Amino acid sequence: MKSVPLIGFDVGFGQTKGVSDAGHELCIPSWTARVNDNAMALDRVKLIVDEKVQWLVGDDAHRLARARLPEVDSSWYRQPEFRVLTRYILDQMGTRAARIVTGLPVRYHAEHKEQLQKTLQSWSSCGINLEVLRIIPQPVGSYFYLAMDDAGNAQEGFENTRVGIVDIGGGTVDAIELNHAKVSWTVHASEPRGVSRAYEYLHSYIRGKGIAARIADMPAVMAAGQVRDGKQVLSLERPIAESKRLVVQAVADIVIDLWTNATSLDALIVTGGGAALCRDELMKEFAKARIMIPDAPHLANARGYLRAARHYAGQRSVPRSGSA
Ligand SMILES: Nc1ncnc2c1ncn2[C@@H]1O[C@H](COP(=O)(O)OP(=O)(O)OP(=O)(O)O)[C@@H](O)[C@H]1O
Ligand SMILES: [Mg+2]
Repeated sequence: MKSVPLIGFDVGFGQTKGVSDAGHELCIPSWTARVNDNAMALDRVKLIVDEKVQWLVGDDAHRLARARLPEVDSSWYRQPEFRVLTRYILDQMGTRAARIVTGLPVRYHAEHKEQLQKTLQSWSSCGINLEVLRIIPQPVGSYFYLAMDDAGNAQEGFENTRVGIVDIGGGTVDAIELNHAKVSWTVHASEPRGVSRAYEYLHSYIRGKGIAARIADMPAVMAAGQVRDGKQVLSLERPIAESKRLVVQAVADIVIDLWTNATSLDALIVTGGGAALCRDELMKEFAKARIMIPDAPHLANARGYLRAARHYAGQRSVPRSGSA
């Protein structure tokens, strides 16, 4: 009999990530689109059927339909789109059952943890069988990624420290402190705008130049560093630098609010996709602090959830932040 995989699930407002103990690491944009037009060209795309409705997910949704990204909302997990994204990841991993650790934005964690757990478990009635091992505040996933080894055992060096974590997501910036490997519930912050603020800035700059563009194309435009205007190419070096500055400034403001000075922390972990996007700028901004940016920061929460899942499934000796 096939064993039930352990999966770290991070269903984000920008990207959905799943990391399994069978070696899968998946990351797709959280785009979804209902298929209501049977005449649509649907070759070479993966259709997800959820409660008899057909959906396109990720890049397929973005390319072929009027796709939408989720709006930042405390109970997004109750929307069918959240289940469709989860179903897609499970499908790609070739399973309909899993033992999972997942997370919630810091500000929604206490209030919504139980309801999220109930929601995930209720999906057994539509063919998704999840055993929820833990639901933790999202940035704590990145802490686990750095503070645990691959098997879910505590690494030396983090036990007696005061660590700040800032998770720069697509739709939120989320921050929390861990003190002696325990969540400090009095020291946290959440903002309902993440990297989106950089994309909005760049989008409005481009539109201001009279060039038609979709906000959804901004990640690609930012990566290219330029945009085509008819036969001409417009360099975006300056507005891109300014848009990243908005993100770094938001992080700097949170750090000042929570810790006054990042040098007072034993480590400042900056994680989430925004930490990849603004890596150089963040290193410069926090040059005097002990800043840590995990490798592939957009995957760090999900990788940490998997490490935590290995721990909770095996009940090994662990850091105490499991109180989360
Ligand atoms: N490697 C990368 N390089 C550049 N930009 C990236 C990278 N990875 C992600 N991003 C950008 O950072 C944004 C945030 O990514 P992330 O996966 O952390 O968001 P999220 O978890 O979906 O958002 P939230 O935490 O708000 O729900 C993405 O929307 C993407 O545009
Ligand atoms: Mg996130």
